[in-house]
Amino acid sequence: MTLFIDGRWVAPKHGNQFSSIDPATEQGIADLAAADEEDVDLAVNAARKAFDQGWGQTSGSERAGFLEALADELEAHRKALAALEVRDNGKPLPEAEWDVADAIGCFRYYAELARELDERQDQPLDVGDARFSCHIRHEPVGVAGQIIPWNYPLLMAAWKVAPALAAGATCVLKPSELTPLSALELGVAAERVGLPRGVLNIVPGFGGEAGQALALHPGVDKLAFTGSVPTGTRIMAAAAVDIKNISLELGGKSAFIVFDDADIEAAVEWIMFGIFWNQGQVCSATSRLLVQEGIAPRLLERLVDAARDIRIGPGMEEGVQLGPLVSAGQYQKVMGVIAQGKQTAKLLTGGVRPAHLPIGYFMEPTIFDEPDIRSTIWREEIFGPVLCMKRFKTEAEALALANDSRYGLAAAVMSTDLERAARVANGLRAGIVWVNCSQPTFTQAPWGGMKQSGIGRELGHWGLENYLEVKQVTQYCSDEPWGWYQK
Ligand code: NAI
Ligand code: MG
Repeated sequence: MTLFIDGRWVAPKHGNQFSSIDPATEQGIADLAAADEEDVDLAVNAARKAFDQGWGQTSGSERAGFLEALADELEAHRKALAALEVRDNGKPLPEAEWDVADAIGCFRYYAELARELDERQDQPLDVGDARFSCHIRHEPVGVAGQIIPWNYPLLMAAWKVAPALAAGATCVLKPSELTPLSALELGVAAERVGLPRGVLNIVPGFGGEAGQALALHPGVDKLAFTGSVPTGTRIMAAAAVDIKNISLELGGKSAFIVFDDADIEAAVEWIMFGIFWNQGQVCSATSRLLVQEGIAPRLLERLVDAARDIRIGPGMEEGVQLGPLVSAGQYQKVMGVIAQGKQTAKLLTGGVRPAHLPIGYFMEPTIFDEPDIRSTIWREEIFGPVLCMKRFKTEAEALALANDSRYGLAAAVMSTDLERAARVANGLRAGIVWVNCSQPTFTQAPWGGMKQSGIGRELGHWGLENYLEVKQVTQYCSDEPWGWYQK
């Protein structure tokens, strides 16, 4: 497949290619064009032209029409899209189906917000001085450079593209080199619904080439990135060169606090979901489990049994709960961290390839008991099906352990004492806190982290603001001279 630039499918300038791999079979499934600096330059220029020549001046309701058409288009191909996501990323089919449904929902939601934007436009603001009238405008930020990861390929594309288009910005989207296929389908959809040329450009390619070129391009007004902290650092540095507006959604090492009074079966369900869905390759995965001493022995026994029961296999296979990790690189990274972890903590289960799956990046659900709080497995994002558990005595101790992290994306707390749960929720330094659950995500609710987990919030109306500039227009309405020079 080729690059989607200025409404056309074009070959890369230097003919660079790469393959996308099915992580369940380790076989290539598609050969793709890899964009480099010159291709990114063409895409940014196309996005600039589209912005200047019309998209930036369209009304919110016009844009809403396109967003709804895109949602309809994805809906019409939802089955094929989910299957494509499974092949490219490895996740179990039911999870890919959720992703596709959420992506569709995201386009519909931002269609609504685009319409509301028309109503919010030019609203008066009382500045407390009758000689002046002031009104507020919300104007699109311009060209958005959007760099997304491989864990939710289509959904991350939707989280970036839908609010940007709703705001009236134009997009240059760089999907991950590990999972570019579903994002390219967005280009197909854009073509089918007649989205004006250049409004959405898609440039698959490698991070150090296409990604870096996009981050450094002077024609980009805003950068939006989801991925690792080290890459986030590079993107922030690139943005600093010409003061680009940025939003970053980086990783996490989110805590899940379970108090003695929690329901064991409910706790097991949410803890497992919180770390093993999407093979643990989730920025908000609740990978640090904090369990109060009284409940710990029973909970741990149930948890280990449940982890051993998880059905592992190719994502398209009926009943599979855990697919392969996304790539050989990610598999080796996670296995390396597990090997290190064995030296500082007790391995309760997993840590190996399942015996019945000799091919594919498959890994058993893994649980470590009582790692050293200075160890890598306790402190760093693993991004695999690896849970680390520690015991605590008091609420204060649990909060201190939970907050002792450079990350602050998400956290969960489980207790039947809702006053305590609320107290703990308020004390957690994280952008997302779940009470008596873990992971449910809503398009309406803000998504993003504190500390090194990022800058800004996606989703909800916060996600739209990422792509809007706020302008005040202030008019002097008095007949009196101002009186600074002319008395
Ligand atoms: P990454 O952060 O390097 O990749 C994410 C995106 O950034 C990809 O599209 C990649 O091509 C691009 N990129 C890479 N280097 C770039 C550069 N210099 N300039 C511009 N763009 C660049 O993540 P990677 O290497 O795939 O995964 C490594 C670790 O990152 C994972 O183990 C996990 O801990 C974390 N991660 C976190 C994610 C999240 O959702 N917060 C998503 C993916 C990875
Ligand atoms: Mg792939």
